[in-house]
Amino acid sequence: MYKKIMIIISLSMVTLLTAEEIDNTTGLIADKGLGDVKENCTVCHTGRFIVVNGGDKKFWKRKIHIMQNAYGLWKIEKAQEERMLNYLSKNYSKKKEVSINE
Ligand code: HEC
Repeated sequence: MYKKIMIIISLSMVTLLTAEEIDNTTGLIADKGLGDVKENCTVCHTGRFIVVNGGDKKFWKRKIHIMQNAYGLWKIEKAQEERMLNYLSKNYSKKKEVSINE
């Protein structure tokens, strides 16, 4: 009995530790680089555009350049862009087939 309880407790701890933490204000995954994304991306639109999109670093680099060329995103320092690209490609690597309004 004691053993069973210990197994259940350990399993729920693993679930808690591996669960993604979601940032309250943006709805984006809390991880290194989110601060940079908040500063440069979610000032204009919600995080939903990021959540429904997804791809590797090349994909996100292209998106950042589209934001700069067409939508008025300012110039971003190389180191900061790199942090955002790492964050985006790590946490949003796959495109999701969901509506932007969900
Ligand atoms: C100066 C304002 C502005 C900033 C800053 C900005 N965006 Fe956007 N973004 C827009 C506008 C405007 C749209 C288009 C909205 C629409 O289609 O209704 C858009 C759309 C998008 C889309 C969906 C369209 C597509 O091409 O897939 C993505 C993804 C996106 N932005 C990502 C980002 C990321 C990542 C950043 C930060 C690096 C960022 N945006 C910063 C203005 C901005």
